[in-house]
Order: sequence, then structure tokens, then C-alpha cells
Amino acid sequence: MATKATKDSIRRAAAILRDGGLVAFPTETVYGLGADATNAHAVRRIFTVKGRPPHHPLIVHIGDVSMLEGWARQVPDAARRLAREFWPGPLTLILERAAHVDTEVTGGQDTIGLRVPAHPTALALLHAFGAGIAAPSANRFGHVSPTTAAHVDAELGDEVDLVLDGGACNVGIESTIVDLTSARARVLRPGSIGRAAVERVLGALATDTSDAPRVSGTLLSHYAPRTRLVVADAERFAATLARERHRRVGVIALRAATGALAVWRSLTPNPDDYGRALYAALREVDALGLDVIVVELPPDEPAWEAVRDRLARAASAA
Ligand code: TXA
Ligand code: MG
Repeated sequence: MATKATKDSIRRAAAILRDGGLVAFPTETVYGLGADATNAHAVRRIFTVKGRPPHHPLIVHIGDVSMLEGWARQVPDAARRLAREFWPGPLTLILERAAHVDTEVTGGQDTIGLRVPAHPTALALLHAFGAGIAAPSANRFGHVSPTTAAHVDAELGDEVDLVLDGGACNVGIESTIVDLTSARARVLRPGSIGRAAVERVLGALATDTSDAPRVSGTLLSHYAPRTRLVVADAERFAATLARERHRRVGVIALRAATGALAVWRSLTPNPDDYGRALYAALREVDALGLDVIVVELPPDEPAWEAVRDRLARAASAA
């Protein structure tokens, strides 16, 4: 059972981390499954609980920008400028790891993902713990990320030492990941901080990510519900629904319900509101055990890049 985040429970959570335990905690993006990032044994437990392949690196969460030096071999000017603009916030920076950093946490790579989350509970936990917390999203590998403590309880509750409940996540989609380890910065995973916002700080980004390091969130099948999921853009939406009409269908759409389908969730046609609501809607419809979930894709516009990316990956699992 999740525990409400209070001064007391946060202090207890920090003690659990110090003892090598696992604590799930809210961030502004999604809930994370945290362990002491310097404790290889604790970090390995994250991989076991998630069922995550060992070569997929974790993000290390830090309390403030001054902690970058402890994890990165060097901190490029671009990292400082992005941190000044966006931290605390939904942005992960990939830097070269410092020599002493355990390769458990980096999935064997020479780079490391770092971020200062913007959630008050996450920051209070980081400050109480006083060191880096390795934390992937608190879901089983490949599944939909959790945006409430109840999602974490339902999926991993028994295997986590403490689930801190800090309410529903405000962003709802995982952080934007920017790789600063090659000549030109590039976005490895789109998020609520858009490409244009990053370019306003750094100038033009690289668009070629063909030699990008392994990022589990960029696997074709990821962020996926159990139910088969089909996406269709606005023009093909009606035809897709018609094709599935003999099945038990759940719909997540921008438009209001048409026809008498069992389940229809309309999400607000605004990228921030939509991002906040998407994973809870997917989990809710998934839990009904229908034959198929049909999702109407938002328009192919920069503001919707992160949402479209997640939907495309959720769909390819079917
Ligand atoms: O918003 C978020 O980023 C959430 C919250 C909990 O902070 N975390 C999250 O973690 O989404 P996870 O493990 O589900 O996804 C992190 C992504 C993975 O795709 C991982 O491969 C990538 O970050 N990543 C971590 N370190 C990396 C590195 N050194 N190089 C390239 N990608 C890295
Ligand atoms: Mg994840």
C-alpha cells in the first residue's frame, strides 16, 4: 500500500535507500522506482523487479545542478545552459560518466543520464537522501509508465519497500532526453520540453540518431498496454473503427463519442492536458479486457511529438 508523502515518510524512504532498498516516488513526469545509485546490489534489484534487460541504462536523479560534477567526467557548457533553463524539470541530459561511476547504473555504457526532477516529493527525498537516486519508470519493462501511486501499487506494490504517494503526475509523459556526448546535441526521446525549446538554448540540434546509444524507451515496442492497440490519424479513424466493429473496442480519441461503443474516452485536444491524462486512460481501458484499443492520433505537429512517439511505440507491441 502506498504511503502518503510526508516529512516522516520521506525520512523513512531515505533510510530505506541508504539500506539498499527500493522506493517508488513521484516525479513531475511519471513515478520512478528508486535505489541508491552508488549501490550496485540495490541497482541490480531495480532490473530484477522491472524485468529490465541489464544493458539498458538508468537515469540518475540528483537534487541540484551542483551534483553534476560527481557523476559526469566533465560538464559541458551546453549542459549548464540547459540546466539553468529547464531544471528542476522534465529534461534528462546524457553526459560522459565520471570514471568512478558504477557501470551497473549506466548499463555498461560510458555515458550517464542525469536529471533534477521538479516534483516537491522527489526533491525532498533527494535532499533527505543527499546523493543520487537511480530510477527508471516504476513499471514492468515495456509496459505503460505509472502516473499515480495506485498504478505503482497495482503493478509492483509487493516488490517495493515503500511507495510514496505524492498525487498524480503533472506532466504524465517521460522526460525529454538530450544527448550531449557527440559533436552536436540531439534528442534521444521527445518529451514535454520540445525540440524547439532546446534549440532556443543550444542552436540547431542534430537530426540523425542512427548511431544513438541504446535507449529502452526508443525500442519499437514500449509504453504498451496488454490489449492490442491500434492507432489511426484523424482521416483514417472512422475506417479503423469500422474495421474493428465486430470486436469489443475501447476508444481513446480527441473527438466526442460517435456510436454506441462499450468504452470511449475523449482526451482534451491540448498536448499538455493530453499528456497528463494519457497513461491513466490507457491503463483504465486496458483493465477492461477488451479485444482492441483504437487511439485517434493527434496531428503531426511539433507540439504533439512526444505523445505521438509514445502512441506509436505502444501500438507496435500489438
Ligand atoms: O521522466 C523520466 O525520465 C522518468 C522519471 C522517473 O524520471 N524516468 C524514466 O526512466 O523514464 P526509464 O528508465 O523508464 O527511461 C529512461 C531512458 C531509457 O530509455 C534509457 O535507455 C535512457 O533513459 N538512458 C538512460 N541513461 C542513458 C544513457 N547513458 N545513454 C542513453 N540513454 C540513456
Ligand atoms: Mg520506462
